Amino acid sequence: MPSPLNRTLRLDTNDWNAPIASLNDLRLNPAVSNIYCGDVLEALDQLPEHSFDLILADPPYNYGVDFGNDSDHRDDEDYQEWVTLWLNKLGRISKQTASLYICTGWQHSGFFQEQLQRAGWTVMNRITWKRDKGRGAKANWKQNMEDIWFAVQSPKSYTFNLESVKVHKKVIAPYKENGLPKDWTVDTDGKPYRMTHPSNIWTDLTVPFWSMRENTPHPTQKPESLAERLILASSNDGDRILDLFSGSGTFSVVAKRLKREFVGFEMNPEYVRYALKRLSLVDNPSQ
Ligand SMILES: C[S@@+](CC[C@H](N)C(=O)[O-])C[C@H]1O[C@@H](n2cnc3c(N)ncnc32)[C@H](O)[C@@H]1O
Repeated sequence: MPSPLNRTLRLDTNDWNAPIASLNDLRLNPAVSNIYCGDVLEALDQLPEHSFDLILADPPYNYGVDFGNDSDHRDDEDYQEWVTLWLNKLGRISKQTASLYICTGWQHSGFFQEQLQRAGWTVMNRITWKRDKGRGAKANWKQNMEDIWFAVQSPKSYTFNLESVKVHKKVIAPYKENGLPKDWTVDTDGKPYRMTHPSNIWTDLTVPFWSMRENTPHPTQKPESLAERLILASSNDGDRILDLFSGSGTFSVVAKRLKREFVGFEMNPEYVRYALKRLSLVDNPSQ
């Protein structure tokens, strides 16, 4: 009997029977915001040139996770060849002002940095996200982080909405000048704080847990809070976002909630169904 606190999303008969869009549908109308079921390598060739403002890629990390396919079980050389194939296709579909974020684990992180530069992207930063969950090892440090590479097509012209991603920081020594607070204010409890620049170390975002409404059975689902931070910083209302390897659809769901257009690709039809269900809940949050 599942705990009543378990809010993990489940599919019902209607969800299982609902049609899902294929790459053929994408070919017919590539402008429609949707999640398409198919292989990223094939899908990328169907997209028009210079059509995306922001690309969010959360590929398999090659950790041996079961995604219902073999995509996370390659030998390292194969994995890197495969990464190079899809990464080299991203320049064609990006606008001149586009930004790109790629999630990865430490094992292939350096490779992603090199390949991004080779593919003509300017690498702007590496965000390190400290996850709350990780499996302990008997003779190694627990794997408890992920990297997110941030790159742009042109460092002279790209979107970065600093104000929308500033973070709340407690002020330990509230300094006053001429009797007035210097760069700080107080919260409703009278505690001093300031909104400050977000850093590239993220320790405040938890992975989705079973008691959270956003949780699905996808084994490596990203938190919506992480998607929100990336999308708010690097896109504007109405911008077009590409959600590569969309899994349970986290990036597309948040894109929709934030009034962006989106296209997602995922090869496992079951995950596509979870993503579609989550997208439908954006319009009907009380369901
Ligand atoms: C790391 S997970 C993405 C998780 C997702 N960001 C979320 O929040 O649920 C990677 C996903 O890529 C999918 N995948 C692997 N190879 C693929 C390919 N060639 N084309 C499309 N999807 C693929 C897997 O089925 C898996 O769901």
